[in-house]
Amino acid sequence: RGNDIGIIGLGTMGGSLALNIAEKGFLVSIWDQNPDKAMSVYASAGAMRKSLHPVQTLSNFILSLRSPRTVLLMVPAGEPVDAVLRLLQPHLDVGDIVIDAGNSNFHDTNCRAETLDAIGLRYMGVGVSGGEAGARRGPAIMAGGDLDAWEHVKPIFEAIAARYGALPCAAHVGNDGAGHLVKAVHNGIEYADMQLIAEASGLLTRGLKLGYRASGAVFEDWNNGPLQSYLIEITSKIFKETDPETGKPLLDVILDCAEQKGTGRWTAIEALNLGVPAGVISAAVDFRFLSARPAERKDGQFVFSGSGAQLCAEDLSIADIEAALIAGKIISYTQGFQLIQEAADDNGWDIDLASVARIWRNGCIIRSAMLDEMASALAGAPGKSLMRSAYFAQQLSQTIPNLRKVARAGIQAGQPIPALMAALAYFDTARTSRCTANVIQAQRDYFGAHGFMRTDQPGTGFRGPWAHEKTRVLATA
Ligand code: 6PG
Repeated sequence: RGNDIGIIGLGTMGGSLALNIAEKGFLVSIWDQNPDKAMSVYASAGAMRKSLHPVQTLSNFILSLRSPRTVLLMVPAGEPVDAVLRLLQPHLDVGDIVIDAGNSNFHDTNCRAETLDAIGLRYMGVGVSGGEAGARRGPAIMAGGDLDAWEHVKPIFEAIAARYGALPCAAHVGNDGAGHLVKAVHNGIEYADMQLIAEASGLLTRGLKLGYRASGAVFEDWNNGPLQSYLIEITSKIFKETDPETGKPLLDVILDCAEQKGTGRWTAIEALNLGVPAGVISAAVDFRFLSARPAERKDGQFVFSGSGAQLCAEDLSIADIEAALIAGKIISYTQGFQLIQEAADDNGWDIDLASVARIWRNGCIIRSAMLDEMASALAGAPGKSLMRSAYFAQQLSQTIPNLRKVARAGIQAGQPIPALMAALAYFDTARTSRCTANVIQAQRDYFGAHGFMRTDQPGTGFRGPWAHEKTRVLATA
């Protein structure tokens, strides 16, 4: 016998997961390179102490686990994961399971899975979303890796996951790094959702000149409609908050420089690598970069004064902004799901997009009511772009006029709305059967002899009339 699972890395997320698992009746060994951390998790465990076993050394940690051993790592992404794997490896036996539950880059997870598989260890990359509270009370869990290993650990993950109705928000999505890819795209979509909400808040407060409290009430109202989601809900609370130190509205004392740990950026990079259009997510990442350059923005304001004119109520209404947000959200999720699909194709994974939408329905940061309809649309038309499914196509045809109105008003008033504009640009391109890329192809051929395809003949490598001209010029030179 022995304990069911061991957890290495007892920061906020690791500690909270340990308590969650112990609470569900599993026996958990906990170890951290800093022994104080194991003791403080134990000290906070109350009635769960009988299931929680802090261990002082790595060898005792390994000895405390039943076979096949299950070890879950919750350490920062990158080199710290490799460092722990190097420490662990000599202690493990063939068939043991190692789970990386951090926000690792899925390419790293693919490599680690291959290396560990070669020596008979079963490796899993598991995306866990929901922050500290989620880890403690019920996260969404996107598992990737060895399917047998998943069957072995499934009872633990299903027990600790958030629930939507009776269903646990936890599932195996594919092999190797599939879970971490899905988690990265979750975070990319999280960036886009946050950006779209921030842009809407700019239109409310700077455009329509609503106060913070009134804007908070608008978000609260939206949270009772189609936009119902965790991020809208917390935004409504944030807008009503006061800074305890100064008594000012909290938002007035928070510096406007967005930080990031990297997962949203990885999503945008992956979209570029795979050639998947994901402009709303990229716009959200880009905005964070520019926001984090306050000196440039300050200088810009000095040089190009006059930004942010007020919008008039006739230009747009609160209902227009709500509808524009709905359209932006549908388009950014369309891009995110397409990215998951194409990354899955590229890696040979069979990811069920409807199941991903269901995992995200509760526990994670992007949980929202709209994910219900997304799960149905993706299940009903597999392989079809989300926004072209009957339901969302209808939603978009209703909301795009408002998005267009909001974009026009934002542009006229000089309010930056990059994610909303990226969504509109994507929509307009994606429904143009003959676009302006013929000009690009002609230019490429003109300066680089790259050739083009013709509308009236099959085949590639056709040249424009300038091909002869260029030969002549070169010949006489
Ligand atoms: C989650 C969050 C979580 C975390 C991000 C924040 O799903 O629980 O996405 O992973 O809050 O790391 O990301 P940034 O620091 O990049 O904004």
